[in-house]
Amino acid sequence: MVDIHSHFLYGIDDGAKDFSQTAKMLDQAVESGITDLVATPHFNEFILPGYFEKINTVFNETKEFLSKNNINVKIHLGSEILLDTKIFGWNKFTDFLIGKNNNYLLFELPHFFEFSKISDTIFNLKLKNITPILAHPERSMKIQESPEILIQWINQGCLMQMNAGSILGQFGKKCKAASKRFLDSGVIHLFASDAHEPKRRNYLTLKGAKEYITEYYDEQFADILCNQNPANILKSKSIKFFVTDSDNLKNNKLKYFINKFR
Ligand SMILES: [Fe+2]
Repeated sequence: MVDIHSHFLYGIDDGAKDFSQTAKMLDQAVESGITDLVATPHFNEFILPGYFEKINTVFNETKEFLSKNNINVKIHLGSEILLDTKIFGWNKFTDFLIGKNNNYLLFELPHFFEFSKISDTIFNLKLKNITPILAHPERSMKIQESPEILIQWINQGCLMQMNAGSILGQFGKKCKAASKRFLDSGVIHLFASDAHEPKRRNYLTLKGAKEYITEYYDEQFADILCNQNPANILKSKSIKFFVTDSDNLKNNKLKYFINKFR
């Protein structure tokens, strides 16, 4: 599997606290069958001077550790950007996008946001040939209440990434129910772990989510969400979309249509 969203670099954000946590997380990634990990430190307006340099230092240290100890997982550098209008003014911003050609941008929503402003930002990113990926929409209460906005954003070219822990119930019943509804409605394009530490929000959840999708949907759907689409993002290729069902999204009717590709 390829995991495009996690926080294994220690001492950077709210992810791994020290190197022992990083090392444990990397072991768990291998154990879970992950071949490639993208480090996605949080980028927001509270970044302190020296943040980018620190990320590079810890990333290189981790890479050296993997090579010296023959640990079979490749690491890549990306970011998780708190979406606001200031992102276009940031220096070095383009160095931390995802994919071989730096054309995918992983973003999270601020606590308070307006749908129209997010739509504008998606539009502006697409003008720059950057494809935005919304991290864990199922965790947003505002989106849980108005999920049809996802279809608008998808039609604008935005991808949707679900957290593995969400479908396993790590973030509560409401989030799990929304996760099921989103999967049934074809609005999720890929899974990622969003791992922060070895104990709970870890890489094993990604393995668990793949098993869940295989059991409750099928192997092909699990493979697209956990292998094919994340791997293609890393290669800067386009991904598979599903036909979306707005009625299903609103009404919470169960319906499964994996065979319909756009
Ligand atoms: Fe994250």
